[in-house]
Amino acid sequence: MSQVPTVTLSHGTAMPRVGLGTSPLNDADAERAVSTALELRYRLIDTAENYRNEVGVGRALRNAPRDQVFVTSKFNKRWHSVDGPRQAFEASAEKLGVEYLDLLLIHWPNPEQDRYVDAWQGLIALREAGLVRAIGTSNFKPTHLQRLIDDTGVAPEVNQVQLSPVWTKASERAFHERHGIVTEAWSPLGKGTDLLSHATVQEIAKAHGRSAGQVVLRWETQQNVVPIPKSANRERIAENLAVFDFDLTDSELASLAALDGTGRPPADSDRSGH
Ligand SMILES: NC(=O)c1ccc[n+]([C@@H]2O[C@H](COP(=O)([O-])OP(=O)(O)OC[C@H]3O[C@@H](n4cnc5c(N)ncnc54)[C@H](OP(=O)(O)O)[C@@H]3O)[C@@H](O)[C@H]2O)c1
Repeated sequence: MSQVPTVTLSHGTAMPRVGLGTSPLNDADAERAVSTALELRYRLIDTAENYRNEVGVGRALRNAPRDQVFVTSKFNKRWHSVDGPRQAFEASAEKLGVEYLDLLLIHWPNPEQDRYVDAWQGLIALREAGLVRAIGTSNFKPTHLQRLIDDTGVAPEVNQVQLSPVWTKASERAFHERHGIVTEAWSPLGKGTDLLSHATVQEIAKAHGRSAGQVVLRWETQQNVVPIPKSANRERIAENLAVFDFDLTDSELASLAALDGTGRPPADSDRSGH
């Protein structure tokens, strides 16, 4: 199997264009899923302090050359201060058994506590110290991102948001593009909706001899979104990576985008209590 293609982030780090999500796997299940994914040549693994599985993810990572895997973690709101990200980094790095992270994200803006700009300054310092190669945010809306840019002059390299054909976030993606921010998609398979069984997806899958999941992930990768599908099943882990050897047509891309708004309303994840 060929290498996973990469996108170069604004600060120069190469990030694989598809990865493995690990929530809600516990340590043992995460270790199994990540080991399988690495064996199948995944090169991006997504975890978080909040998933409580960094130890299991770390056990699997020990069997792969560190420089061959792009490791992402995220930290909770208690670390929203200038010094907090350093402590969050140290805790995650220890659990994962790594000396550096490829990408560290502020998990939610938590606007009610209003300290995400401080956390962003802490992340900028961590990148300068060489402890993280790239820095970003998750669940930030354009207003939150604009504030980071206005207050620090530094835009996130990545913003990870809930995104799939049922929630396309076109205007948010346009904002990201204008500011050199790569969009990463959580729930890229539309978890909690009937996206994969939708007739439009099924018809396109049949036309290409692919699975519904592959069609949805290809819709995302064809517009430069980086999906991180979660699977604990070997066949589905394999199939979710095999999405770069076929192309959807412009009209198929448009039919999928027309599903926008047909799923459940997205989680209002910036209100997370974590
Ligand atoms: N930043 C945030 O706030 C945030 C929030 C939520 C999630 N995330 C991250 O994003 C990752 C992915 O999101 P998600 O887990 O919510 O949703 P998802 O990846 O859209 O969906 C996962 C579900 O789809 C199934 N699945 C996987 N591949 C499939 C395929 N090819 N065909 C059919 N079903 C398939 C999985 O079951 P099997 O395991 O049985 O295959 C699982 O039930 C998470 O694991 C986490 O790392 C981030």
